[in-house]
Amino acid sequence: MDLILRTPRLALRPPTLGDREAWLSAEVANEAHWGRFGPRPQPGRTLNQVFDDFLLRAREGERDGTGYRFLAFESGEYVGQVALNNIVRRAFENAALGWRVTLAAQGRGLACEMVARAIDFAFAAPPDGLGLHRVEANIMPINTRSIRLAERLGMRREGLSLRMLCINGEWEDHLRYAVLSDEWSAAARAGPGGVSGPASGT
Ligand SMILES: CC(C)(COP(=O)(O)OP(=O)(O)OC[C@H]1O[C@@H](n2cnc3c(N)ncnc32)[C@H](O)[C@@H]1OP(=O)(O)O)[C@@H](O)C(=O)NCCC(=O)NCCS
Repeated sequence: MDLILRTPRLALRPPTLGDREAWLSAEVANEAHWGRFGPRPQPGRTLNQVFDDFLLRAREGERDGTGYRFLAFESGEYVGQVALNNIVRRAFENAALGWRVTLAAQGRGLACEMVARAIDFAFAAPPDGLGLHRVEANIMPINTRSIRLAERLGMRREGLSLRMLCINGEWEDHLRYAVLSDEWSAAARAGPGGVSGPASGT
């Protein structure tokens, strides 16, 4: 399917080969900004190879239903990405969120808009979405902008997972945030002021 999610300011869609140049430039320009809280490319891998891996994993995830990666564009300009990773079905029906916006796009509420739309997609019943039950986000305690974002989205802080993820060679503690589908619909029903609003079509 042609998967495209829209928000008032953004279009979100899976990456394609044609995104290579914009993706590479953003990686270079945001190396320090993104590298603090996410894994840097493995030594010895060129950024071109990293993009190829990224594209392959995006396609495999979508094909197998185990992950969905979206690039976000504002008026055609690449401003960030959001992913629903590690999707497990049956007794879990859960996805792990990942997010980032470029330094140039930060501080305008775009991340909030982008992630809210990805959560709408996660919870919407098929064919508009994935019909999941729970979405989580794992955030390093020093990542204050991401903590503010999770809390602005109404995600609950569940606890601290010790030495959970290896970020740049160190096993880092992460705060675990989550939201359940019924909590999300209740927040949307609460109306204006909620970040989600009505889900726009795919
Ligand atoms: C985490 C990250 C996505 C947050 O981006 P962000 O732009 O701060 O997030 P938001 O979209 O929620 O924007 C909030 C800011 O925009 C401001 N804003 C302006 N217009 C706004 C609007 N219409 N709606 C909401 N907020 C708005 C808010 O006041 C807030 O500013 P403040 O933080 O100075 O108080 C970004 O910092 C990032 O990419 N970090 C590096 C990568 C990373 O940490 N990834 C996650 C690993 S777990």
